[in-house]
Parts: sequence; C-alpha cells; structure tokens
Amino acid sequence: MRIQVMDDYEQLSYWAARVVLSQVTLQSNSVLGLATGSTPEGMYQRLVDMYQQGKVDFSDVTTFALDEYLGLSPDHPQSYQYYLYNKFFNHINLPPENINLPPGDTTDPEMACQNYEQAIASAGGIDLQVVGIGVNGHIGFNEPATSLNTNTHIVDLAEETIQTNSRFFDNIDEVPRQAITMGMGSIMGAKRIVMLANGKNKAAAVRDSFSGKVTTEVPASFLQLHREFILLLDKEAASML
Ligand code: F6R
Repeated sequence: MRIQVMDDYEQLSYWAARVVLSQVTLQSNSVLGLATGSTPEGMYQRLVDMYQQGKVDFSDVTTFALDEYLGLSPDHPQSYQYYLYNKFFNHINLPPENINLPPGDTTDPEMACQNYEQAIASAGGIDLQVVGIGVNGHIGFNEPATSLNTNTHIVDLAEETIQTNSRFFDNIDEVPRQAITMGMGSIMGAKRIVMLANGKNKAAAVRDSFSGKVTTEVPASFLQLHREFILLLDKEAASML
C-alpha cells in the first residue's frame, strides 16, 4: 500500500488523473473500473482537460462502472450512468461500445449481475480500478456486514449511505434502497487500485480502513491486502491516520 497525502482537493484530483493517464499511456487498451460520487469529479474534469490538450487517447480503452442504483432509469440525473456520461464519456473519445455499466433498470437483476461479472472476465479483468470510500468504510456499495460478496451483486444500502447520499436527491424518500455493485472479489481482482478520499468527514473511515485490522465491518480495509494499492488523500482525510 502506498499512501500519498496532498495539500488539497485540487492536487488530489490532479494526481488521481495522472495515475489514470499513466495507465492509459503505458497500455492503450487498458480496462478501467470507474467510481462515481463527489470525490472523483475533479479527477474526471482533469482527465477531460488532458484529453482536450491531446495528452491522452481513450480510443482503445474499455470501462466498467463500479456500481449503479437499482430502480433508477439511466437518464435519471442521479443515476451513475448519467454522471459518467455527463462528466466524462461525453467529452472524450471513448468508443460507446467499450462502455460497460451495471443496468440499474434491469428486470432481471440476478442475470444482470452474472452478465456483468462475465463481461469483466471477458475483457481480461480490470487493469486500474478507481474507488472512493463511504463514511462507513464501504467501497462500491459493499456495505459493512458480517460477510461480504465476491462477485457483482444486488445490495441493500446501509441507512448511513441512504442518509449521506440524500444530499443528491430532493428528499430522502427518493434515494433508491438498493444498488447493483461490483463485489469485493471483482474489485480486489483489479491489477491496480487507486482510492481517492478528501475532507474531514472521511478521516475516521480512512483511519479505520488503513490503520486498523482487516474486517468485513470496514470493507475498504481489505484493500490493505492488495499488492498494488495507491491511497490518495488530502490533508483532512489523512488527519486521523
Ligand atoms: C460510487 C461509489 C461509492 C462512493 C462513496 C463515496 O460509485 O462506489 O462507494 O465512492 O460513497 O462517495 P463520495 O465521493 O460522494 O463521498
């Protein structure tokens, strides 16, 4: 595990974009796993800037989104599909056929999970997985529990996650209660993983994940076991380490 502490969110976003840039530069047909949420917004903006400056080419890249709310249509402004198109895909030269998203509007969630897992395997696995961290230590939507799922699966969102994510919706009742998420095995199977965390409200989750024991009650703690894991923090998120 390599930990890098940045001065602020701007620097964090820049360095996160540099990690993605170097991955794609070294291997043009990279398979990227992509998180959403507020944390990587700056990284996507920097990557779009780098693309517009001719510094990176996504024409041979394949992407897999980490997760999606279940029951939201893809064009819902809070769907993760909408987010990724809006903040990233619409502004770069990633071929549409190389974009993979868990279908939040599926009528057969179990089959959708199996298909997604199969698609990741067929693409040769994920080369670089970008993740954020929930205030309760979740990664993707792998919530704290007594056991964790390996593969892409349907999950009931934790009350804390529903509360935290309600800031994106008009009211808390609109927050979906379920999601489809890559599992711990799908994430840990990535060749490299980079986690981004910023702000005081992530400091306790970062401490519990990376200076404590590995436990299913703090899903992100499993990343301590990954051989090529980079943790990018701003000073506030690192303040309790
Ligand atoms: C999003 C995801 C979530 C977020 C986490 C942090 O695709 O998988 O695990 O990374 O909830 O969200 P933000 O960045 O909004 O604090």
